[in-house]
Amino acid sequence: MSYTIAITGKGGVGKTTVAALTVSRLIARGCRPVLAVDADPNTCLDAVLGVKVQKTIGRVREEAREIAGKGMSAGVSKQELLEMKISESLVEADNFDLIAMGRPEGPGCYCYANNVLKQAIQSIADNYAYVVIDNEAGLENLSRRIVQKVDLMLIVADPSRRGMETMARLHELAGEMGVGYGKLAMVVNRLRRDELPIGAAELKQQLKADYLVGLPDNVQLSECDEDGSSLGGLPPDNEVVKRIDALLAEAGVINK
Ligand SMILES: Nc1ncnc2c1ncn2[C@@H]1O[C@H](COP(=O)(O)OP(=O)(O)OP(=O)(O)O)[C@@H](O)[C@H]1O
Ligand SMILES: [Mg+2]
Repeated sequence: MSYTIAITGKGGVGKTTVAALTVSRLIARGCRPVLAVDADPNTCLDAVLGVKVQKTIGRVREEAREIAGKGMSAGVSKQELLEMKISESLVEADNFDLIAMGRPEGPGCYCYANNVLKQAIQSIADNYAYVVIDNEAGLENLSRRIVQKVDLMLIVADPSRRGMETMARLHELAGEMGVGYGKLAMVVNRLRRDELPIGAAELKQQLKADYLVGLPDNVQLSECDEDGSSLGGLPPDNEVVKRIDALLAEAGVINK
């Protein structure tokens, strides 16, 4: 069974950044193998991790449909075909693999295809000790249940009053949609004075969150973004890296 970490939050708050740092810290601390899942149709986790996706799952699904339409070779089930195709779309990096969901392509209803796809992704995810999912803004992907269970859910928000309200709203939505998780971490990102916003501690109690983490606005992160370099190259003494480490340690994922 893999340990699954899902990162969610509204647009532009730092989900992909936190997802990429989580992947690189797991690897740095010897937690392997890791599967990174880019569940945002606007694939970008690959760039932040310094790799390049050639084929998304959206494309794989179309290819599998085309092959199925032409008639498959004897002895290969639809499920097996999809699993083979998904394996082909895996980006294999030095210390982790990555799949990107992309967007659904072509016409037609995908309900059945989606279910088959989920099973295929799940069986691939089972080959990894750790799975890190970078979601698109909102909770749609979690509700589509790319994976059955989430061990650690991170809700990322900006440090404004509205950011806190959005966090509460996302938490409420997760409850309404029956999104289950083992532990919940509130991550308040881009703190200017490195102080948590008013109401964050109360919100933690209200949401019964297990962890509350503040991440400072960080120049090295901005520089990586500007020159397009991988976040995996950030030194372990970078303040944001240290706080991600501390969260993973507190959650018992890595050693303290
Ligand atoms: N702690 C930080 N310090 C400095 N810059 C940051 C920090 N966190 C995120 N950023 C920057 O903020 C921008 C948005 O971050 P990111 O792409 O991770 O957000 P996102 O939530 O994944 O966005 P989207 O909803 O578009 O997927 C990026 O330019 C990123 O480099
Ligand atoms: Mg993103």
